[in-house]
Amino acid sequence: MKAGAAILEVFHRAAGQFVGVDELRCSVAGARPARQLHEELAELQQLGYTIESHPHFGYRLLASPDRLTADDIKAQLKSSVVGSEILVFEETASTNNVIEQLAKSGAREGVVVFAESQRKGRGRHGRTWVSPRGKGLWFSALLRPKLSPAATSRITVAASVAVARAIRQSSGVDARIKWPNDVIANGRKLAGILVEAATLSPSAEEASLPREQCIILGIGINVNCKREDFSKELVDIATSLELESGRPQDRTALAARVLAALDEYYHRTLTEFEMIADEWAQLCTTLGKQIIVTVGRHRIEGFAQALDGDGALLLRRDSGQIERILSGDLAVERT
Ligand code: BTN
Repeated sequence: MKAGAAILEVFHRAAGQFVGVDELRCSVAGARPARQLHEELAELQQLGYTIESHPHFGYRLLASPDRLTADDIKAQLKSSVVGSEILVFEETASTNNVIEQLAKSGAREGVVVFAESQRKGRGRHGRTWVSPRGKGLWFSALLRPKLSPAATSRITVAASVAVARAIRQSSGVDARIKWPNDVIANGRKLAGILVEAATLSPSAEEASLPREQCIILGIGINVNCKREDFSKELVDIATSLELESGRPQDRTALAARVLAALDEYYHRTLTEFEMIADEWAQLCTTLGKQIIVTVGRHRIEGFAQALDGDGALLLRRDSGQIERILSGDLAVERT
């Protein structure tokens, strides 16, 4: 861990209390820890951290800037795969594109890219995802799951449960899931998930090897968006954590919590998907309702019964026939 992240980790563990100079010095490696500590603290202050010093008690962190940094997210994160490497960009076209490039250049599973804003944020079905600067968490992760392509929907299901849980824990907002993978509060959209598969062509020397599939998991969470940040088409159907909880939220702490939850649920996806499907069902507002789903140009009406083992929705038609739906849009939901 880098020195800045190590110091922030000590401060976060102390939860606003003073930390002795010796403890802080131990967190920075190097031949001259006293000097390095001084330099690192000055650098953190320059980045906008408010650090109080006391001649006897040491230092304490009073406030953090509303700005994502890899060091601070790492300082609050203990996860093994998702978030093993974190990159933060001021602006990108789409974080999914950055991950695709990284995957092509051989990046390791678990790398996560955040952007403070996206010029061409993508939603499902080619829609635009509005990503205003500094107002949300717009990020993507590279996964290389050992799952058949047919079971890729499991990743989406697991990710929606992880995001909803992390939001509930960190803000107290009653986040729920609307099929297929929207995270909503009071019927309005808080977060969206875009899973894209990328097939990486082997290099000329490796042409005999099978093509490798990887998954790009893109997530957008409206954190501190105000009503005026949404266009007139979105203002009545979208919401944010700030709007729902009545107070601005700490984006860095939420980022760390979401990544930790994604890491946990990702591992469980491979071993105990049934339990995740049960959690999904508890949080889901769609199951047990008569719904109309649009799949391409088709509209299918039926009773939303359950998820199957691959994460597909089982829809019971009036005729009793069960349709297995892997992706689509929910047009109407009736109780
Ligand atoms: C949806 O339509 O609900 C999915 C929205 C996904 C948005 C996120 S923001 C980060 C990542 N980069 C993108 O371009 N899209 C996803």
